[in-house]
Amino acid sequence: MDNTIVCKGIYNVGVRDFEIRDFHGYSTYQGTTYNAFLIVDEKIVLMDTVKKPFTEKLLNNIKKFVDPKKIDMVISNHTEMDHTGALPHIMHYIGEEKPILCSKAGKKNLEAHFGKGKFNLQTVSSGEEISTGTKTLSFLETRMLHWPDSMFTYAKEDKILFSSDAFGQHYSGPAAFDDQISEEEMLNHAKKYYANILLPFSGLVKKLIKDVEDMKLEINTICPDHGVMFRKDPLKIINAYKEWCEQKPSKKAVVIYDSMWESTRKMADEIVDAIASKNIPVVSMNTRKCHRSDIITEVCDCGAVLFGSPTLNNNIFPALSDILTYMKGLKPKNKIGAAFGSYGWSGEAVGILNSYIEEMGYELADPGLKVQYVPDESDFEKCRELGLKIAEKLENL
Ligand code: FEO
Repeated sequence: MDNTIVCKGIYNVGVRDFEIRDFHGYSTYQGTTYNAFLIVDEKIVLMDTVKKPFTEKLLNNIKKFVDPKKIDMVISNHTEMDHTGALPHIMHYIGEEKPILCSKAGKKNLEAHFGKGKFNLQTVSSGEEISTGTKTLSFLETRMLHWPDSMFTYAKEDKILFSSDAFGQHYSGPAAFDDQISEEEMLNHAKKYYANILLPFSGLVKKLIKDVEDMKLEINTICPDHGVMFRKDPLKIINAYKEWCEQKPSKKAVVIYDSMWESTRKMADEIVDAIASKNIPVVSMNTRKCHRSDIITEVCDCGAVLFGSPTLNNNIFPALSDILTYMKGLKPKNKIGAAFGSYGWSGEAVGILNSYIEEMGYELADPGLKVQYVPDESDFEKCRELGLKIAEKLENL
């Protein structure tokens, strides 16, 4: 069956971006999709558009079903430009007088992006409904998930939730639906997406899921704006979000480090081996070999995070600053932390890392381990002790 058909009268006219590898700092090693949906009923509705360079492709995709000029209205669930980049051209093509339905914050944000008075913006609020003829669409504002303007649209009769960025994955592999991809692969992409985009809003995710459950919305299909759509088992992704938003620490450690002359790396290796010796899963991530978006995906559900940095110019290594800045913004919670590193003469790195750990609200599991120049066997013993201490704390979670 054609993968663009969501159900009778609802089509995914979005595009696949096979080439993108960096989505504003997020490594998208399998590209992404910008899903957009066409509802062909008595009224014809386009829901969201795509990133600007794909405008012609979107128009061609729409033309497979209808003449785009016949579109009666556009729904903008989210202003970010991967979903509105094509909007000005689409509106010019279909007629700028046609309404664009959006949230109140959506109106403000669309005006900020494209200018006041350019479009016929009509605001909708949670619970409001419109009819397209045989289909009813209702709206649910999802403020700060992940922008102030974000909202969901629900197709009542077809029981389809159009969830904008929520439940998305940056993935443009062969699958279009959840029954065409392994659960493990889908969840890996979805978890990375959650960790890098929605993590700081976990409290709101929890509340939203509860609100949706309280509303007793029947959901047969979830159509996010990125990646695969969920028609086989929409509960799978909802339950995954329920778990991720709790940010429960698992018995897993992540060791994030960089090294100048291998000393800090050797310390990291000893710590990792000591943790692993207690059958505690541990991931070792060199900041110049692992992408920040993959590091945060591992950090998101771990119980302990250790940072290792040599002292460079009285400071931590620049690549450590990158991941720490990123992590501080994404606010992963409920962890213990510790720092280690080699130094030559001044040795500030461990103290600076400790400050980061405390600023992120983590329990400092150890005062930190500093080694001058090159670790010897007694230093390795201290590394092993640190690793065992972390393992013990995780065992007792
Ligand atoms: Fe996919 Fe927030 O844009």
